[in-house]
Amino acid sequence: MRDLRVSVTDRCNFRCPYCMPAEIYGEAYEFLPREDILTFEELTRLIGIFAELGITKLRITGGEPLLRNDLPQLLGMLKAIDGIDDMTLTTNGYLLSQFAQPLKDAGLNRITVSLDSLDDEVFKAMNGRGFTTERVLKAIQSASEVGLSPLKINCVVQKDVNDHTIVDLARHFKGTGHIVRYIEYMDVGNRNGWRSEHVVPADEIIARIDAEMALEPVESNYHGEVATRYRYKDGSGEIGVIASVTKPFCGDCTRVRLSTDGKIFTCLFASEGTSLMDPMRSGATDNELRQLLTGIWTVRSDRYSEERAASPNEPGAPRKIEMYQIGG
Ligand code: GTP
Ligand code: 5AD
Ligand code: SF4
Repeated sequence: MRDLRVSVTDRCNFRCPYCMPAEIYGEAYEFLPREDILTFEELTRLIGIFAELGITKLRITGGEPLLRNDLPQLLGMLKAIDGIDDMTLTTNGYLLSQFAQPLKDAGLNRITVSLDSLDDEVFKAMNGRGFTTERVLKAIQSASEVGLSPLKINCVVQKDVNDHTIVDLARHFKGTGHIVRYIEYMDVGNRNGWRSEHVVPADEIIARIDAEMALEPVESNYHGEVATRYRYKDGSGEIGVIASVTKPFCGDCTRVRLSTDGKIFTCLFASEGTSLMDPMRSGATDNELRQLLTGIWTVRSDRYSEERAASPNEPGAPRKIEMYQIGG
C-alpha cells in the first residue's frame, strides 16, 4: 500500500459519456447527501492512519474535486500528515484557474488535468456539457505559472471519437514541459457500454505519434508506475500511455482507494468496498481502524484487468463501482 486515492465528492460539472452519461445523471439524479460524505476531520484522521501503514503518495479525486467546498483548507490539513511526500490532484480543469494559487499555497505539489481533445467539437461531445477547451487551456497555463508541476494531461482515447486528434494534442504540448498521458478506454463502472472494439491499443497510439514526432522509450520513474513513458528524440519532452486493457498492470499495483462515502476499495473495478466511515462513526479507535485496513489489504487478490485481458468482450465483475465515486 503506497498510493492512496481519495474521492472528495461524487459530483461533477462535466458529463463525460464514458463516466457520467448525461441521460442517466440528469437534474433529478441524487448524489450523496452531505451527512454521508466524510468530513475534513474524518478524512484527515483516516489518511493519517493510511500514512502510518505506508502510504506516501496521495491523489485527490472526485467526481470533480474542485467542487468540494473549501478544498484548499482540506489540503492544508492533509499536508501536515507525516509521511505523505507527494500530494496531487486530478481535475477536469474547468474551475482550476481560480484555484491554482490557493491549491499551491495549501501544499499541493503537482496536478493532473483531464483533456481528451483540443478539437472543440470533439471536446464538447466528450464532456457532455458543450464546453469548449478555452477555459481548460487557460487553467493549465495558470497551474503551470504557480508551479504545480510536472503538470500531466490525461486523455482517454476512444476509437472513432477522439483518436483522430491524439497527434495534435501531443504536438500542442510538446516543448511545454507538460506530460500528456493517453489512457486506453476502460470498462470502468456499468454504464458506458464499453466494447473492446472501442479501444485504441497503446502501441498504436505511440506508433501514430512516433510517425510524426520521433519517440523513444524511457525507464519508469518508480516501481508500479501505471504509465509507460516515452520521450521525443529531439529532447522536447515526454508523453505516456496507460495500457490497462492491452497490458494490464495488476501485478505490481500498490493503489488503494477511498470513496466519497468512506469505503475502501482495493481495485478500480471492485464491486464492493468496506466502510471505514461506519466503524469510525461508531467510535472505533485508530488501532481498530488500522487492524481493519491491514486485514483488508493482506488478503487482497484483485487482478481484474488481467482477467479481462483473458476474455476481452466479457467485462467481468457483476456490478462495479462507478469511476466518479472513486475517481480513477
Ligand atoms: P503519477 O503519480 O503522476 O504517475 O500518476 P498516476 O500514474 O497515478 O496516474 P493517474 O492517477 O493520473 O492515473 C491515470 C489513469 O490511469 C487513471 O485515471 C486511470 O484511468 C488509470 N489507472 C490508475 N490506476 C489504475 C488501476 O489501478 N487500474 C487500472 N486499470 N487503471 C488505472
Ligand atoms: N476509461 C479510461 N479512463 C477513464 N477516465 C474516466 N473514465 C474512464 C474510462 N472509462 C479518466 C478520466 C480522468 C481520470 C480520472 O480517469 O478522463 O482523466
Ligand atoms: Fe466528471 Fe471526470 Fe467523470 Fe468526466 S471523467 S464526468 S470530468 S468525474
